[in-house]
Amino acid sequence: MIGRSNVGKSSLINAVTGRKAIARTSRTPGLTRLCNVFAADTRYYLVDLPGYGWARASRTERAGFARLLQGYLTGRPTLAGVVWLLDIRHPPSRDDRAMGELLGGVAVPVLAAITKADKVPRGRRAEQVRAICAGLDLGDDQCIITSAHTKEGIGDLRDSIESLVEGGRRGSEESA
Ligand code: GTP
Ligand code: MG
Repeated sequence: MIGRSNVGKSSLINAVTGRKAIARTSRTPGLTRLCNVFAADTRYYLVDLPGYGWARASRTERAGFARLLQGYLTGRPTLAGVVWLLDIRHPPSRDDRAMGELLGGVAVPVLAAITKADKVPRGRRAEQVRAICAGLDLGDDQCIITSAHTKEGIGDLRDSIESLVEGGRRGSEESA
């Protein structure tokens, strides 16, 4: 799970795992600075990565984060995929585009979870999602509209994550 700080990663992990407070959420951006790992069930883990793009992060912290992420996304045979969170209210930021480039350069499947859907009236959602996905070269089939508050789209996201996990497992069995 990656995304801009405050995009709702910890909340989405709680929603997908069906637990209230497995991952710590907060109003203060940048609270999650460590890599926190949560067992969603016995088949896979969700990893809550630190949010990118917090304004007060130092250059050293940013470089450390980029290294952490690069290391994470390459050379991990057990990594089934990345869930990239994007806030439905905002067009892609410079940090989002940089992340898109980083993700485009690694051979890991990406699901885009559009977060906080409840913050935008239903009639305006499709338009917002189109702008976000088009701006980041994401296909419609990669994007899932979610709300950790209303639980909209949470089941779909969970199903898509499980498909990635199953696909990854078949792939590694075939190559073994
Ligand atoms: P960092 O760990 O600091 O990077 O943040 P995060 O991405 O883990 O975000 P977190 O889950 O802590 O949520 C940040 C804020 O957004 C909190 O105030 C949440 O209550 C709020 N939030 C998260 N998901 C939703 C949602 O689906 N709808 C609404 N309305 N608010 C949300
Ligand atoms: Mg968090």
